Amino acid sequence: MEPKQARPRKNEEHEVVLGPIAEAGRTVTKIGGFVVFVRGGVPGDRVRIRLHRARRNHGEAHVVELLEPSTDRVPERCEHFGVCGGCSFQNLGYEAQLEGKRRLVADALARIGGLEGVETAPCVPSPDLWEYRNKMEFSFARRRWLLPAELEAGVDGERGAAVGLHVPRVFDKVIEVGTCHLQSKAMSEMLALTREIAAASDLPAYDTRDRKGFWRFLVLRRGRNTGKMMANLVTAWSEPKLATVWAKSMIERFPEVTTLINGIAPRPASAVILDEIHLLHGEGTITERLGDLEFEISPSSFFQPNTAAAEKLYELVADEAGDLEGKIVFDLYCGTGAIALYLARRAGKVVGLELVESAIENARKNALRNRIAGPAFTAGDVRGTLANAARRHGRPDVVILDPPRAGNHPKLVRELVELAPAKIVHVSCNPATLARDLAAFADGGYTIGTAHPIDLFPHTPHTETVVGLDHSGQ
Ligand SMILES: C[S@@+](CC[C@H](N)C(=O)[O-])C[C@H]1O[C@@H](n2cnc3c(N)ncnc32)[C@H](O)[C@@H]1O
Repeated sequence: MEPKQARPRKNEEHEVVLGPIAEAGRTVTKIGGFVVFVRGGVPGDRVRIRLHRARRNHGEAHVVELLEPSTDRVPERCEHFGVCGGCSFQNLGYEAQLEGKRRLVADALARIGGLEGVETAPCVPSPDLWEYRNKMEFSFARRRWLLPAELEAGVDGERGAAVGLHVPRVFDKVIEVGTCHLQSKAMSEMLALTREIAAASDLPAYDTRDRKGFWRFLVLRRGRNTGKMMANLVTAWSEPKLATVWAKSMIERFPEVTTLINGIAPRPASAVILDEIHLLHGEGTITERLGDLEFEISPSSFFQPNTAAAEKLYELVADEAGDLEGKIVFDLYCGTGAIALYLARRAGKVVGLELVESAIENARKNALRNRIAGPAFTAGDVRGTLANAARRHGRPDVVILDPPRAGNHPKLVRELVELAPAKIVHVSCNPATLARDLAAFADGGYTIGTAHPIDLFPHTPHTETVVGLDHSGQ
């Protein structure tokens, strides 16, 4: 018998071959049976790693030297690769990214959900691999992230108002991205123009620690299939003169912009939460087309960030939902009603439930805009509105579930199990919470069908999955 290798300790270095993609843009490897999550490489790389954390049952490490590159490596496209952290797998060939995402889902279902028998289909690719995002959110910070060479040269990162993307796990500095290849070129130029205007002002960026400062976020949205563009400059309070300067410069440089907004966000939250919306130009919303449907999207509403892949996602959902003729379909966490409306024409009745009031307003308008009669949309927490919706509209035959990353509250799962719809189609952006929730549905009498991963975010670790669940008693 081989002698048992001692558990590796913090700061030790080891030579390993990196295994499959794991959560959070890492890969997983083993040192004598001990699982280590590694940042900074791709599956198949032979590397030297250093452990920066050694817990009882797993370790965390980063690559210190690439000894032999994986055959799946490709040259990265972005000058900020490795620092920005948005696209951890830009240097991994696309086929290998898809296979990595498939394995990630399969592994979560088996390991976290204990769902050994559930099959995982190949990951559906995104039709667009670059410039696929219809929404980008940039943050302002008082300090800019400095590269090692700049630090050595003594460059001062203090900027007053730098704007860009947060470096992973660093909340007070941003990397001032020039071109981001996930957004359109015009969006990168809008970012640059806004940066110039902020830098020329004598107002600092907001900081959640002292709750002071003016500049907060820049949110850019574009309708890939409509050409509409929205820019939302988010500040802690209103400075009408400055907002006008920004709006005028934007319209002059980008006549294609259809809506400009100054959102006011005085709360210390690190997310964009708008207390007021000051319309500077256009209608205040943009539209996007999915298939033959057109959607109105307001500044605070969720809309799938990759339009072309969202069409694929909704096709998958429709396939899993099956024949809907005469059936009652509930779309839980419906956002602006995209899935409900996508299914409405072939269903008996669709009902959408969603927390954000403005998204529900969009959903209702979207039904009218697309001449879809009969859908019922209600604003509120799904847990508080589901029972009432079932009393009002009848028990659902089919339920679509598309929760945020945290997944479903256990009480909602219990409520659904009691309602016992014949079919549930679960959409999820987090394989770990999906696995947990599917296990609970399996305990509640549902048979779990094949999991279909779909890539909405090429080059990033994010993975979307669609799974159909059938009630065993029906
Ligand atoms: C992943 S999005 C789903 C969007 C939609 N299915 C689509 O494809 O556009 C999740 C949605 O859940 C909403 N949400 C989050 N927590 C909620 C809750 N407790 N009750 C109802 N909706 C919630 C969010 O506002 C967001 O619109």
